[in-house]
Amino acid sequence: MFFEWQGSQPVTLRCVDKYHETPDAVSLKLADLSESLLFEFKPGQFINLGVEIDGKMEFRAYSLSSLSGEDCLQLTIKRVEGGKVSNYILDKLLIGDTLQALPPTGEFNCIDHPPAFHDGKKKALLISAGCGITPVFAMAKHWLNNHEEVDVEFLHIARSRQETIYFDLLETYHAAYPDFHLKLLLKHGGETPYPEGRLNVEWLLKLVPDVKQRTVYLCGPNQFMHDVQDYLNELGFDMGNFYQESFTPARNEDIEVSDEIATVSVPDFAQSINAKKGQVLAEALESAALPLIVACRSGICGSCKCKVRKGSVSSTSLETLTPEEIEQGYVLACSSTIESDLEVQIG
Ligand code: FES
Repeated sequence: MFFEWQGSQPVTLRCVDKYHETPDAVSLKLADLSESLLFEFKPGQFINLGVEIDGKMEFRAYSLSSLSGEDCLQLTIKRVEGGKVSNYILDKLLIGDTLQALPPTGEFNCIDHPPAFHDGKKKALLISAGCGITPVFAMAKHWLNNHEEVDVEFLHIARSRQETIYFDLLETYHAAYPDFHLKLLLKHGGETPYPEGRLNVEWLLKLVPDVKQRTVYLCGPNQFMHDVQDYLNELGFDMGNFYQESFTPARNEDIEVSDEIATVSVPDFAQSINAKKGQVLAEALESAALPLIVACRSGICGSCKCKVRKGSVSSTSLETLTPEEIEQGYVLACSSTIESDLEVQIG
């Protein structure tokens, strides 16, 4: 039987396993409370996890690395400087503890965007760095497990063998599956057979000479993703075959926060908040401790949906909203900046 998510409401899952992948990254396995139901999702998607820290629920988005249809969800979380939720999970969460979760979501997946054929064969290039390996690893596993006959170049960038998430599994796949080609580029190669270097156009061509024939799926730190995109552009890569994950805050950079005050009223909670024009709506609502779930902060999960009854906002993302909802005035608070006095309804 499959696990049923509760729309956009958080559900409780239990951590049934937790172990280190590298000194600063742990993998979690999460199951439903009966530990028997199966989870479905599209490889590459993420879920938002919520934990209570200092009396406040904090949500963050994490990509799934398990296979769809298994009785638990697996994710790998890396320590990040100042990362409240990630570091809490690394340091405090114990096997047996529960946490909150929102349903799997995300456009970055290999079901909606399968690899294109080239010379009669589906060819993919998965490029990742650091924890960005999780969604692309899920894609590779999916293709191999389902015998989808996708030729996979798996290019991963890491500091060293010790800091390469899933190192042993990657080597096992490389040895076991003729269609899975592992290309690691390490800062410190050490005793491994993998080259040392910093990714650039030359390395990209050297490691994956037929890069232009492949559909590229990219995930990693922001700067890394920008750089890779530049390399692909430089090579004249067809960006119609390019997909990337991005948890980048969706603030519209062109809009400056002004000193002009705007009032955001939330009648259902008898609140009236003094905000600034140009401020992100989610920030204003959070400052009044209203029960708004702001998970991905990137306009992709839909958790921060709210309705603007009066006034106007400028939105950078309307993803997950239906045309009817948009028509009715629904917006994503994390991706909307305040333009005037507002009356808002949460949820
Ligand atoms: S927090 Fe995910 S869409 Fe706003």
